[in-house]
Amino acid sequence: MSTPDLAVVILAAGQGTRMRSRLPKVLHAVGGRPLVGHVLDTATALNPVRIEVVVRHERDRVVEAVQHLAPDARVVDQDEIPGTGRAVQVALDDLGDFGGDVLVLSADVPLLEATTLADLLAAHRASGAAATVLSARVDDPHGYGRVIRDASGTVQRIVEQKDATEDEAAVAEINVGVYVFQAAPLRTHLDLIGTANAQGERYLTDVVGLLRDSRHMVAASEAPDATAALGVNDRVQLSEAARTLNARTVRKWQLAGVTIVDPATTWIDVDATLAPDVTVLPNTHILRATTVATGATVGPDTSLVGCEVGEDATVTRTDATFAVIGPRATVGPFAYLRAGATLAEGAKVGTYVEVKNSTIGAGSKVPHLSYVGDTTIGQGVNLGAGAITANYDDLTKHRTEIGDEVHTGSHNVFVAPVRIGDGAKTGAGAVIRKDVPPGALALSVAPQRNVEGWVEKNRPGTKAADAAARARTAQEAGDGSQEEHG
Ligand code: UD1
Ligand code: CA
Repeated sequence: MSTPDLAVVILAAGQGTRMRSRLPKVLHAVGGRPLVGHVLDTATALNPVRIEVVVRHERDRVVEAVQHLAPDARVVDQDEIPGTGRAVQVALDDLGDFGGDVLVLSADVPLLEATTLADLLAAHRASGAAATVLSARVDDPHGYGRVIRDASGTVQRIVEQKDATEDEAAVAEINVGVYVFQAAPLRTHLDLIGTANAQGERYLTDVVGLLRDSRHMVAASEAPDATAALGVNDRVQLSEAARTLNARTVRKWQLAGVTIVDPATTWIDVDATLAPDVTVLPNTHILRATTVATGATVGPDTSLVGCEVGEDATVTRTDATFAVIGPRATVGPFAYLRAGATLAEGAKVGTYVEVKNSTIGAGSKVPHLSYVGDTTIGQGVNLGAGAITANYDDLTKHRTEIGDEVHTGSHNVFVAPVRIGDGAKTGAGAVIRKDVPPGALALSVAPQRNVEGWVEKNRPGTKAADAAARARTAQEAGDGSQEEHG
């Protein structure tokens, strides 16, 4: 059910020069989502009959993102005439004879909440104004358009920073870049905008003064939260917006029952989901669509990208991307889980262990210093310290298959493709090149041979030879005394 008589126009055609970036400004992300994605989300939440996104700079990249984020939005191309006024004009042309209210949003003002916009719309409809501007009072208004009111407080016009007099520049009430207009007067007054300003552009903001000049009522409605109203024009503001959004996200999860020990060093993307009684320790990044189930502890110093963490799992000082960590599994410290790492219930991946495209069965352990790639490990397995699956033969990758209840010695190399049968064991230092049948003990290291007296004979006069001589003398004396007493 859409809100009747509401169309939304999102301005996303500008160049974003101040970002100094190859990436179009509106595709820079905060909270794991492009700026324009946040604006599309809030617009969608209002259920308008139509969303129009105006594009020009790097239009193909922006269009691709818009179609992915909001397939129902319409894209309209701005021509070579610059300015936010021109941008709205081309969108309005695309809206045909639409006669309701037009909510204009800037794609570089990402943090406004849908409730703020709904309140703006309600105020606009209640007052019957031809235009209602969303304003905010800020400590440092530099760079923004200012809302100029007369002595009675009535909104007169908006003046841009570059065109402001000293008195105007001192005004702390800024134009957020968000407005509601009645479509009909907007249409006629957009035609009247000139380019006599510092930037030679057609400013949408001029419509406010022009409406006023022709005796239309214009109003400004102040945003409740000025920090959510700030725009992103450069990378300083990008990081500020990211921090503001993150604080909001952290608070949301805290109120939902998640313990977040240090909000300042915890970063959570908007698509992540955390269950009640999750604990997040400092310096932890929970990114993309990561889900963390109840009772799990994540961090400190952990990054999860698109991962699934099961109930009561523990993930400590770990870097994991597209990994599935089962219930009660333990990971880290200093583990590296790459795409396709899947740990079943109660599995353990310990210290300095890398896992890629591998399944580790229930209760199985890879505790120390190992590389597990393209491997399937059954249940109840223990891989000894320093296990390496040699999955790559210089041409292709091969799989290692390890059955249930297999225990391997330390420092084994599994040269794939290779299979280790259920219940099998391997000796320390084994290089497993052939399949091991179930229940077998595989040994590949030649028996040890000790050459007695080698050091004293071949390295005379060294500290090693002296130590060996002392040990031999003590041994001989000991043997002697044993003989005496025996
Ligand atoms: C604009 C407002 C300013 C306000 C500020 C709030 C104007 C003239 N000024 O300034 O009063 O305080 O936003 O953040 O509107 N865009 C187009 N086509 C264009 C130019 C811009 O679609 O030809 C889009 C941009 O992509 C951006 C938005 O409009 O999303 C705002 O443009 P920007 O150049 O950032 O305007 P500001 O200088 O921030
Ligand atoms: Ca801007």
